[in-house]
Formats: sequence, structure tokens, C-alpha cells
Amino acid sequence: MGGTRFNGLALVHELVKWGHDVTVLNRGKSEARLPRAVRRLYADRTNHEQLRAVLGHEEFDVVQDLSGYALADVQPLVEVFRGRIGHYIFGSSTVIYAKPRVLPIREADPVDRSERQTEYGIQKLLVEAYLFDQYRANGFPAAVEHTYDWFRHEKLSESLQFDFSWEDDLLERLDVR
Ligand SMILES: NC(=O)c1ccc[n+]([C@@H]2O[C@H](COP(=O)([O-])OP(=O)(O)OC[C@H]3O[C@@H](n4cnc5c(N)ncnc54)[C@H](OP(=O)(O)O)[C@@H]3O)[C@@H](O)[C@H]2O)c1
Repeated sequence: MGGTRFNGLALVHELVKWGHDVTVLNRGKSEARLPRAVRRLYADRTNHEQLRAVLGHEEFDVVQDLSGYALADVQPLVEVFRGRIGHYIFGSSTVIYAKPRVLPIREADPVDRSERQTEYGIQKLLVEAYLFDQYRANGFPAAVEHTYDWFRHEKLSESLQFDFSWEDDLLERLDVR
């Protein structure tokens, strides 16, 4: 899901390099140089009827969701794929974590649910809770990864960097720019 910008684009290149069969689904709005072997599906994931029509008969070993930002994005996808996929990996974000005192951030580090949390982070936390419930209640094969900024293929916009000011500070300390 996604696959034509930032993390998704980088992942697609990496998967193809390692010999995997890759299909991407997006609206076709973001321009990207995709490897020739990549199969493309087009749908707006906010249009649930369209999503069902395009994905209803597809089967995948792994679905990597790199265009999900809210519960409303993810719930329909879980319904479409229930019982038909091997793994569903949701691209969350390190923004869910409280400002770390020690680096690197680890999975079990404290999460920030305070008023400092952004709407973006709150939505990611809601999606994570929903997916873990789906796993516990129905065995839906969900996993979550906490992605960090990806600089190799494209540079983040100024506004996006501004939203993650503490991460900016963290990047400086890591000296990775
Ligand atoms: N970028 C970062 O630094 C960063 C950091 C932490 C976490 N993350 C997480 O990683 C994931 C990927 O983010 P990203 O920044 O790499 O990429 P992004 O800019 O969110 O890319 C979105 C991708 O999804 C597609 N898309 C967007 N809206 C869509 C819709 N309504 N229906 C179908 N496809 C749609 C876009 O293609 P079209 O426009 O052609 O539809 C594009 O391929 C997100 O979940 C994000 O929260 C990103």
C-alpha cells in the first residue's frame, strides 16, 4: 500500500533487489521511478467500494501498509484481507514514543499519550491498538513497524520536519544528515 514515495518507494526498490514479486497500490498521483518488474494497482483507499473491487480477489504473502494514517484507512483493509494474507505490516512511526533519554529508541520504550502527542501520533496509536485487538480476537496476522524518516530517495518538506522538532534534535545528535 503506497510504494511511490519516501519509505514505500525505498522498500519497493529493496524488495525487487532481493528478488521478490512486488505489487503496489496507490492512486497514481505521486510520480515515481518504479522498477519495471513492479505490478501496479490503482485505487483510492478512502473509497472502500473501489478498494474492495480492486483487492477483493488478490492474495498476497505480505501486505506492507505504508499509506495508512488513521483507523478509517485501516479497518476496511483488514476486512478485505481477512483470511487471505500471510502477514499485514502496518507502517507506524517513532512519533508515538515519548522523547527518549537514551538512544536508540527501543520497542518497549514509553509511549507519549499526553497532550504533547500530535494528532498524527494519536491516530497511529489508535490503529496499533485496533490491530493488536484484531490479532488477539481473530488471529488477524498483524504486525507494526515504527518507521523513521527516510532521506535516501526524497527529502522531507520543511513543514514535515517542523512537525517533528524533537526528532530533528535527535537527528542532529545522531549526526546522520
Ligand atoms: N516519511 C517519513 O519520514 C516517515 C516517518 C515515520 C513514519 N512514516 C510512515 O511511513 C508510511 C509511509 O510514509 P511516507 O512518508 O514514506 O510516504 P507517503 O508520502 O505517506 O506516501 C504515501 C503513498 O501512499 C499513496 N497514497 C496516498 N494517499 C492514498 C490514498 N488515498 N489511496 C491510495 N494510495 C494513497 C501515495 O501515492 P498516490 O499519491 O499516487 O496515491 C504514496 O505512494 C506512513 O504510514 C507514515 O506515517 C513516514
